[in-house]
Amino acid sequence: MTGAAGLDEATIADWIARVAAERARTAPPPDFPALPDIPAARYTDAECFALERRLLWQRSWLYAGHIDQLPEPGSYFVWRHGSAPIVVMRGDDGTVRAFYNTCRHRGAPVVRDIAGRAGPTLVCGYHGWSYDRQGQLRGVTERRDWRDFDASCRGLVGVRCEAYANFIFVNEDRNAEALADFLEPVTRYLRHLPFGDLRLVNRREIEVRCNVKVLVDNFLEAYHFKLLHPKTSDRIFDNQGTSVHLWRHGHSMMLSPNRRDDWVDPGTIGMPEMPRVTAIERHHNPSYGLFPNLILPVSPSGIPCVTLWPKTVRTSVLEVLWFAPDWGGGPRNPLWERRIANFDRIVDEDIQFAEPLQESIESPGFTGVPLSYQERRLYHWHAEVDRRIGAQHLAPALRVRGDLAAFID
Ligand code: FES
Ligand SMILES: [Fe+2]
Repeated sequence: MTGAAGLDEATIADWIARVAAERARTAPPPDFPALPDIPAARYTDAECFALERRLLWQRSWLYAGHIDQLPEPGSYFVWRHGSAPIVVMRGDDGTVRAFYNTCRHRGAPVVRDIAGRAGPTLVCGYHGWSYDRQGQLRGVTERRDWRDFDASCRGLVGVRCEAYANFIFVNEDRNAEALADFLEPVTRYLRHLPFGDLRLVNRREIEVRCNVKVLVDNFLEAYHFKLLHPKTSDRIFDNQGTSVHLWRHGHSMMLSPNRRDDWVDPGTIGMPEMPRVTAIERHHNPSYGLFPNLILPVSPSGIPCVTLWPKTVRTSVLEVLWFAPDWGGGPRNPLWERRIANFDRIVDEDIQFAEPLQESIESPGFTGVPLSYQERRLYHWHAEVDRRIGAQHLAPALRVRGDLAAFID
């Protein structure tokens, strides 16, 4: 169906037909099962959280940053959503690498700032060991005191780091499949867009007092648009026409059609469009969900991206990023201020419900989450979590039990 060029004509026609079918249906498809509830304790249980941390988050490809954050050799930032702080750095050869920010002597942090540009070597502030920008140990203070010391085995410990276009991902699992293979079911639909030319326009980080799955669930459905976003998303998009696409690896997409085909976001008028935009991006909101935590709703003139991060069982971090076609030199288009504010408003509408929801789901009155047909992305996501953790590691009461394998495209 899909060629190497991204969204092709046949796929576009198929997706548009699926939206029309969603609008026309009066019930779920006859072969779609009634889904068992998602167990309530998954949102509050400390053991479940610890398992997810170790077996899901620390073994997944996770968005760490954009190449714009590393403009030259020695540029680095510290990424703090792993098992420990990780330095992502551009080496002398231009390659981006990741290392645990942990000196191989007595474990001090090697860089202390959250981001910056290292000199030719990174010098540990405790006893002065120094590493090059590729992470190799180059200098040991008072070398005469060390017997049989092999500096070549004492470089900073590396972390898998690969990129999709300008997007840098890390994975603490050394044996993980290649990033390109992991993303392939999604990236085949993005290939026509100029991801390699997208610049980072803005970044905002918010701490939210809820379990990360409360946030993930929220960003995987359009069922809440009518009540949470009456003056924003619901005015623009028709959730009755939203079609859901499930892909392997837990990835998915929801395609929400604009209420009117001639509608153009007034906040984008005057902004340059990405080349090769299709009717899918122009007349719909294709919101891609890259498992586990990256939400990418593509629009013709820019892509707001939401990433969601577990912090504790009851606190999370939500990051909002904006990417847009390269605008050349100089400051960004002043229209961005309003555009960013508009999307922030939508995100704030989402968050204002997440925190009270966490409080109310702690109640004995919350027994589990029944999911409708249009919410099936959530089920797909949770099932992938269990597949990765290994359901046998989860107490029986915490497992999801349904199977949507037959509905994966
Ligand atoms: S801990 Fe880094 S040099 Fe001692
Ligand atoms: Fe929302």
